Formats: sequence, C-alpha cells, structure tokens
Amino acid sequence: MHHFFLFLFLLVFLLPHETSYSTAIASGGGDLCSRRCGGTTVPYPFGFSPGCPIVLSCDASISTPILPYIGDNGTMYRVIAFNSTTSTVVVGLPPSCSRSVPEARRVLSGDNYGVSSRTGLFLRGGCSGINASAAAGCSVPMGVMSRLLRTAQCVGLGNDTSPAAVACVASRPANSTAAVHDQFLLWEKVEKQKCDDVLTSTVLVLTVEGTATLEFGEAELGWWLNGTCADGVERCAANATCTDVQTPGGELGHRCECAAGMEGDGFSAGDGCYLGES
Ligand SMILES: *[C@@H]1O[C@H](CO)[C@@H](O)[C@H](O)[C@H]1NC(C)=O
Ligand SMILES: *[C@@H]1O[C@H](CO)[C@@H](O)[C@H](O)[C@H]1NC(C)=O
Ligand SMILES: *[C@@H]1O[C@H](CO)[C@@H](O)[C@H](O)[C@H]1NC(C)=O
Ligand SMILES: *[C@@H]1O[C@H](CO)[C@@H](O)[C@H](O)[C@H]1NC(C)=O
Ligand SMILES: *[C@@H]1O[C@H](CO)[C@@H](O)[C@H](O)[C@H]1NC(C)=O
Ligand SMILES: *[C@@H]1O[C@H](CO)[C@@H](O)[C@H](O)[C@H]1NC(C)=O
Ligand SMILES: *[C@@H]1O[C@H](CO)[C@@H](O)[C@H](O)[C@H]1NC(C)=O
Repeated sequence: MHHFFLFLFLLVFLLPHETSYSTAIASGGGDLCSRRCGGTTVPYPFGFSPGCPIVLSCDASISTPILPYIGDNGTMYRVIAFNSTTSTVVVGLPPSCSRSVPEARRVLSGDNYGVSSRTGLFLRGGCSGINASAAAGCSVPMGVMSRLLRTAQCVGLGNDTSPAAVACVASRPANSTAAVHDQFLLWEKVEKQKCDDVLTSTVLVLTVEGTATLEFGEAELGWWLNGTCADGVERCAANATCTDVQTPGGELGHRCECAAGMEGDGFSAGDGCYLGES
C-alpha cells in the first residue's frame, strides 16, 4: 500500500504540468498518453505526453495542438483539424518568404507523419530547376498568387508571378484514389525545382461534383503507426479495419479506420469505434 502511494506521488510530480494524468484515464487514452491540450482533446495516436505514439506540442493558452518543430523564426505550425477516417491532419502553413525548402521539409515531416500527396506546395525564388514546358502538377490563378505574395510580404522581391518566379508542385492528380502507395508528397520533386522558399501550400480537395477546391495556407499531413497490419503493435479496435501504407521512408506502416457509419479513432488504446449520435 505504501509503495502504491509513493508510485502515485512520483507519477503526479514527474509528469509535465500542462498534461493531466487523470484526464488521460478519463478519456480512455493509452497508457500514460495524455490527449488533452487546454480544452481540446486530440484523437489517439496523437497526444502530448511521451507515452503517445505521435507526440504533439500544446499551446495551452489557445487550446491548440502544434507540430513539435518550431520554424527558424519561431513560426508555429498549428493543427487545424484531425481526420481519423483518412488518418490525416490539416496544419496551417502561413505564407512566408523566408521558409527554405529544407526547413519546410523538417517542420512537416515527423517519425510517423509526412506531407500527403493531396498537398500542393508553392515555391518561389530562384527556381532554376523549373521546367516551364512540364507543369509540375498544379496551377494557381494569378490574382490569388499575387495576393499570397503580398500577404507574405515578399518585400524587395517584386510582384513577379511568372512561372519562373513561383512554382507549384503536387504529387498526385486531384482525383486519384487513395492506395497503399502514392500517399505522400515526393520531396525529391520539390527539391528538383531548386527554389529558395516554400511560400505556402494548398490542399487539393475533390468535391462530390468533381471540381477541385483549394484551401490556401494549409497542408495535409498523413500519419501512420509502425509495423504492418500483420505485425502491428498498435491494435485496431473491434469495429475498425487495418490498412498497410507505404511511408515516405519506403517502409510499410499501418492505419486503423472505423467501419462506415461509426465514429472514433479506430484504436483499442484510444476511443475505439462507436456509433455516432445521429
Ligand atoms: C517508428 O519507427 C521510427 C524509425 O523507423 C522511429 O523513429 C519512431 O519513433 C517509431 N515510432 C513509434 C511510434 O514507435
Ligand atoms: C474525413 O475525410 C472523409 C473523406 O474525405 C470525409 O468524408 C469526412 O467527412 C472527414 N471527416 C471529418 C471529421 O472531417
Ligand atoms: C525571419 O523573419 C525576418 C523578417 O520577416 C526575415 O527577414 C528573416 O529572413 C527570417 N529568417 C528566417 C531564418 O526565416
Ligand atoms: C521538360 O519537360 C519536357 C516535357 O516533359 C521534357 O521533354 C524535357 O526534357 C524537360 N526538360 C528538362 C530540362 O528537364
Ligand atoms: C506590386 O503590384 C502593385 C499593384 O499591382 C503595385 O502597386 C506595387 O508597386 C508593385 N510592387 C512592386 C515591388 O513591383
Ligand atoms: C480523373 O478521373 C477520371 C475518371 O475516374 C479519369 O478518366 C481522369 O483521367 C482522371 N483525371 C486525372 C487528372 O487523373
Ligand atoms: C462491430 O463489432 C461487433 C462485435 O465484433 C459486431 O457484432 C458488429 O456487427 C460490428 N459493427 C459494425 C458496424 O461493423
């Protein structure tokens, strides 16, 4: 009994203060995975304590999860939305004229997530590798582009929105369907353009009508857990299906998705799957 209380005492005082052990239990999180950030709870396998498979940082003052890597200028990359069905998160990528390609790659890549192939990146500056006769995968209206350049305050860089000044790189046509392969942006394709900066990004979303909508200033990241469905250590919940996915590093990872009509994160260590309220 005595040891039990000592254990609890240590647990309470050794955990980071902004995380709460009791809420991790209350929300059904995995062992010591706290998924609370201020008033926000994130879906497993995300969380804010070392026991979570994918650890995010928390800006508790605005109850907002942020990517763990802070940009060179202190730029924080906020998580805007999670989608447990598609195993994706959308993060804000504020327009910037001083975010190098390597920095963008570092910020947006983690051990268990990477930029999805539905994300198009807008690059600027130099772009000596650009091949004007071969569109790299997406285009953007001139008006939108000059607005982006103004927002980013690319001072002294002029208003040049010619193809040589701004390149857009996307990996996949907007309407191809998800598969094991081709889930992630090919950074090699981005680096080949030899541009200085990643100005901003867009998520190419195909509507039911078949038209593409563009959300500027956002990037979609896909995530996975290590191991395949056959040997995955993180178990999918009872009503979830497991899918293998090829990670940007080339290995296989896996994802869990709740059965159609059910909600939840799909993990037995998380909230599992449950019937929605509707
Ligand atoms: C997954 O594997 C990578 C190495 O391939 C490792 O860096 C990472 O920490 C692992 N993630 C988890 C959640 O175990
Ligand atoms: C997740 O993505 C799927 C497919 O794009 C979409 O149908 C669903 O509404 C999304 N869920 C949320 C919570 O945004
Ligand atoms: C930081 O921001 C300033 C002003 O916006 C810019 O001049 C500088 O190049 C930036 N530095 C980095 C490393 O992004
Ligand atoms: C540019 O793209 C065209 C069409 O894809 C190709 O034929 C040409 O070889 C490319 N040029 C360079 C320099 O890569
Ligand atoms: C950019 O364009 C705006 C109007 O389109 C113009 O007022 C401004 O002087 C231009 N800036 C530069 C640096 O060319
Ligand atoms: C989009 O999908 C249609 C039918 O599914 C296909 O014929 C067309 O080639 C696709 N477009 C692209 C750019 O892949
Ligand atoms: C969920 O799982 C239970 C038990 O395995 C099963 O009886 C039920 O049919 C499943 N529901 C759906 C929607 O897959």
